[in-house]
Amino acid sequence: MANENTQVKRPVKITETILRDAHQSLIATRMPTEEMLPIIDTMDKVGYHAVECWGGATFDASLRFLKEDPWERLRKLRDGFKNTKLQMLFRGQNILGYSHYSDDVVEYFVQKSLANGIDIIRIFDCLNDLRNLETAVKAANKEKGHAQIALSYTLGDAYTLDYWKDTAKRIEEMGASSLCIKDMAGLLTPYKATELVSALKEGTDLPIDLHTHYTSGVGAMTYLKAVEAGCDIIDTAISPFSMGTSQPATEVLVETFKGTPYDTGLDQKLLKEIADYFKPYREECLASGLLNPKVMGVNINTLLYQVPGGMLSNLVSQLSEMGAEDKFDEVLEEVPRVRKDFGEPPLVTPSSQIVGTQAVLNVVMGERYKMVNQQAKDLLSGKYGQTVKPFDKEVQKKCIGDTKAITCRPADLIEPSLPKFEKEVAQYKQQDEDVLTYALFPQVAKEFFEYRKAQQTGVDNTVADKENGAYPV
Ligand code: CO
Repeated sequence: MANENTQVKRPVKITETILRDAHQSLIATRMPTEEMLPIIDTMDKVGYHAVECWGGATFDASLRFLKEDPWERLRKLRDGFKNTKLQMLFRGQNILGYSHYSDDVVEYFVQKSLANGIDIIRIFDCLNDLRNLETAVKAANKEKGHAQIALSYTLGDAYTLDYWKDTAKRIEEMGASSLCIKDMAGLLTPYKATELVSALKEGTDLPIDLHTHYTSGVGAMTYLKAVEAGCDIIDTAISPFSMGTSQPATEVLVETFKGTPYDTGLDQKLLKEIADYFKPYREECLASGLLNPKVMGVNINTLLYQVPGGMLSNLVSQLSEMGAEDKFDEVLEEVPRVRKDFGEPPLVTPSSQIVGTQAVLNVVMGERYKMVNQQAKDLLSGKYGQTVKPFDKEVQKKCIGDTKAITCRPADLIEPSLPKFEKEVAQYKQQDEDVLTYALFPQVAKEFFEYRKAQQTGVDNTVADKENGAYPV
């Protein structure tokens, strides 16, 4: 065996998720900006590859629950992080919403995200249809940003090592600066990670980032095997907000690689300062019930049923609303069948909701596809893009009748819509970015703009509540 000293050093890079995914996964994205600001100076000294701090659900949650302007948050974080790259999560042609937007809105959103302080945009699509990423990737490259393409990791007949390898190659050809495997459900097990990362490395020279969740309990081991196989970047969360449905703990991985060729070089003293800072906030979240100890354990169901933890809890609540909790096992068996009928998509927002809701309907109605909601019809009409396998023809016929499914890139059929949004938002507008906020979440944005105005004119009594730290949750 080679002596450690003679081995080539390949320090693994760390992306810290505490300001985005960690609190999105554990406390429903409720961390306010003022909870973040006091620790930024210390975080900026650590030498992280990047800090993920924006996008995903943070945008919606800021507006809806925290009554904060997400753009303002980004600017404050940018001011504080002088040496560290800031990263966001971007849902391809859906931006941060749940349906497809026209190219002009996608381009403008990317441009403004970078102008306000984002360095790395992680872009993904729920079907892994790369056509849905093209516009965002081009826009990021045009603005000299770092476009990282993320593939939603899933299991199934179609997802062979060759599939991942070929897709990695296509991602490089598209002009991405790095590639991420987004294992949102924690399905990637350690030895599978060895195979996967090796296959990706055969397909591309791009840096490989692995993003997993600790949900099924294998996350840290998966990172270890992935790094040994050549993975360059891993996503971790500072310990008080790590594990469970969040990421493996930053300090644990840093210690794991210490003294090896993969040594991160990060300073445990600084990491301890950051952990100490977040501990009281964690206690607060536990006391208020915002952090439910249930999400902190190992959920083996996600491995057994191959569905994300969030989807399992959605199924439970959908069934209990219908008074049909006893059908849970039947629904779990129906999920993979619906997924097959729908072209075997990964289960991630919004495909997870579409498949999950349909499985519930199929079981509760006592007849498969007797009732089909609009989102499922859209999926089967090609409006979300192309699935890796074809739809089941009979199911498609039963759900959408004689409607002709589209096969082009869905956004090719969407007219430019920025001028329309500009017009609609004119009376509320205080900054360029407001049009984007409005385009994504029209109703929530309007309410926020009215709240903002009231605050400025001093007639809104919710201001006092906010100063007292009483955030609406
Ligand atoms: Co995640």
